[in-house]
Amino acid sequence: MTTDLADPPGDCPQCPRLVELRRDLRQEHPDWFNAPVPSFGDPDARLLIVGLAPGLNGANRTGRPFTGDYAGDLLYATIAKLGLSEGQFQSRPDDGLVLKDCMITNAVRCLPPANKPVGAEINNCRPFLMAQIDALPNLRALLALGRIAHESILRGFGLRLADHKFAHGAAHDLGKDLRLYDSYHCSRYNTNTGRLTEAMFETAMRDARDWALNDPLP
Ligand code: URA
Repeated sequence: MTTDLADPPGDCPQCPRLVELRRDLRQEHPDWFNAPVPSFGDPDARLLIVGLAPGLNGANRTGRPFTGDYAGDLLYATIAKLGLSEGQFQSRPDDGLVLKDCMITNAVRCLPPANKPVGAEINNCRPFLMAQIDALPNLRALLALGRIAHESILRGFGLRLADHKFAHGAAHDLGKDLRLYDSYHCSRYNTNTGRLTEAMFETAMRDARDWALNDPLP
């Protein structure tokens, strides 16, 4: 499948497992978002942050990436610290937060069972990721949060995974003056286990931001 759409339609039929989960959750929680979560941020962004997939009580509930769960608290705090947002993140899609020169999306736009999309689901959703990348005229850097985002981006660019291994803090040349930066995902699991510290996360995002903006900020 190819698409010009940077965001899937609300009733995207591509992945039977995810459609079924969405249908069940619409019954169980009719007040939740329960749909493919659109990207959020600045259409002129030079930095695109690519997460894994919406969390059950986060983006799937609220409709904005990383909004409503722990991973978002760390992500948005780091974005603010690096001068990439205006306003106060309050874990609600109507908190008035504005991203500056930065956009957030997910490799998979629908909630996957147990937070684990399967390969076919990642592949089905890649055209939306690539359409989002194509829709950003000023893009210079992508920050992949975790291996799944990293690999989906590489596949989308037709690059060999063996030539670009995922490693926290690594940078990869994607061609067309674009660079991919890697970070461990800012999940509660990764910070609780010490795999990712706040300082490690900030450094990875700072590197991506500095390359993207080409003029170090705070
Ligand atoms: N919320 C998202 O939107 N994406 C993730 O990868 C994790 C939480």
